[in-house]
Amino acid sequence: MRVTMIGAGYVGLVSGACFADFGHTVTCVDTHEGKIAALKRGEIPIFEPGLDDLVASNVKAERLFFTTSIAEGVADAEAVFIAVGTPSRRGDGHADLSYVHQAARDIANAMSGYTVIVTKSTVPVGTGDEVERIIRETRPDAEFSVVSNPEFLREGAAIIDFKRPDRIVVGTDEERAKEVMTNLYRPLFLNQSPLLFTSRRTAELTKYAANAFLATKITFINEIADLCEKVGGNVQDVARGIGLDNRIGSKFLHAGPGYGGSCFPKDTLALIKTAQDYDAPIRIVETVVSVNDQRKRAMARKVIAALGGSVRGKTVGVLGLTFKPNTDDMRDAPSISIITALQDAGAVIKAHDPEGVEQAKLVLGNVTYVDSPYQAADGADALVIVTEWDAFRALDLKRIQSMMAQPVVVDLRNIYRPDEMTGLGFKYSSVGRGLADA
Ligand SMILES: NC(=O)c1ccc[n+]([C@@H]2O[C@H](COP(=O)([O-])OP(=O)(O)OC[C@H]3O[C@@H](n4cnc5c(N)ncnc54)[C@H](O)[C@@H]3O)[C@@H](O)[C@H]2O)c1
Repeated sequence: MRVTMIGAGYVGLVSGACFADFGHTVTCVDTHEGKIAALKRGEIPIFEPGLDDLVASNVKAERLFFTTSIAEGVADAEAVFIAVGTPSRRGDGHADLSYVHQAARDIANAMSGYTVIVTKSTVPVGTGDEVERIIRETRPDAEFSVVSNPEFLREGAAIIDFKRPDRIVVGTDEERAKEVMTNLYRPLFLNQSPLLFTSRRTAELTKYAANAFLATKITFINEIADLCEKVGGNVQDVARGIGLDNRIGSKFLHAGPGYGGSCFPKDTLALIKTAQDYDAPIRIVETVVSVNDQRKRAMARKVIAALGGSVRGKTVGVLGLTFKPNTDDMRDAPSISIITALQDAGAVIKAHDPEGVEQAKLVLGNVTYVDSPYQAADGADALVIVTEWDAFRALDLKRIQSMMAQPVVVDLRNIYRPDEMTGLGFKYSSVGRGLADA
């Protein structure tokens, strides 16, 4: 099939490369000229494990193409995916749909023959209706269907998530569109990924419900972690104790510095706004957002407490900046709030991240970026683990200890064992491993 992705970012590029790998002919269109020029040169503008090889092999096989011209990309396509950004709108937290609406207008002007327009971007309920209206208004003669097909991939594991999803949600009531979507995804349900057909509005809402539920799960265990610290419990044991219950499940029960990233913060906020507009407020998600917002700066207070109540003039080494490992994505990363709060309190920051430094430089000022975890520890009064990159899991702790001005470690991802760390002479604190364990 001939497929076009509008937007060649984390979702559009990964989905496009994976569809090409299934044998479809895919054109990725992006208005960002630098991005398309880089892709044409064989450079991948984002860090996502395995993506470079996947793109290279499908370009070589002449199944994957890049262009800035929407007309060129869309003209012969049977399915056109909208995979542009839907960030929070400045000021009110609603999803900013301007990129989606622009893409709809551009597609309308360029399409020919029956075309299925598929919204893969995360969009509020009713956006499909608006996309349909825009296209109908621009091209009253055109034959098309507008389908919702939200994406559930995770950055850092995006290719495997796209190729082996837990489910594929397709929102449409039109038989013709269902047939196109079924053919597109046939290679996947041969692998037994269920294809779930729903109404368009239901599909749109399903994506927000999924992200809000996961954000709630994280926030729940984070609050249990806080209680563990007060009463002397161990949150990792609690998480295991509840996670082995199939009704609960073990995923997303890792206590930490609060969720961040390109999706959860903006999607929880957008869901709250939609729910309020429809007079069906989702109080539980409202609370999750407020608890999570406060948590990030609270993590900075944890560091300040570990250093005896003041960080003024002290050097804090930070390990990990991206919102999670295996990505270079810095959007709404907890490190931003934590570092800013530490700087507000007078700390000097040295930081290391295996892939995120270029993106971090765009959002964080006054930070000295170093090339290794050891350089971050060198001369530091405290070392804070913010992102659990594998490279931080087996550090030479004796070496770290000998390099630091004070052996203070604040492990916000619980990757080390309290007994081991205190045994090595560190003043060690972590998340939700109470007094007995700290
Ligand atoms: N990143 C994730 O992990 C993830 C997972 C699931 C869903 N989503 C959703 O997918 C959508 C895209 O997210 P992303 O992370 O890939 O965003 P992104 O910012 O990485 O990519 C969006 C791309 O769209 C391009 N673009 C904007 N307007 C355009 C237009 N009119 N024509 C062509 N290109 C245009 C931008 O230049 C950019 O390269 C969002 O709605 C997001 O919520 C993201």
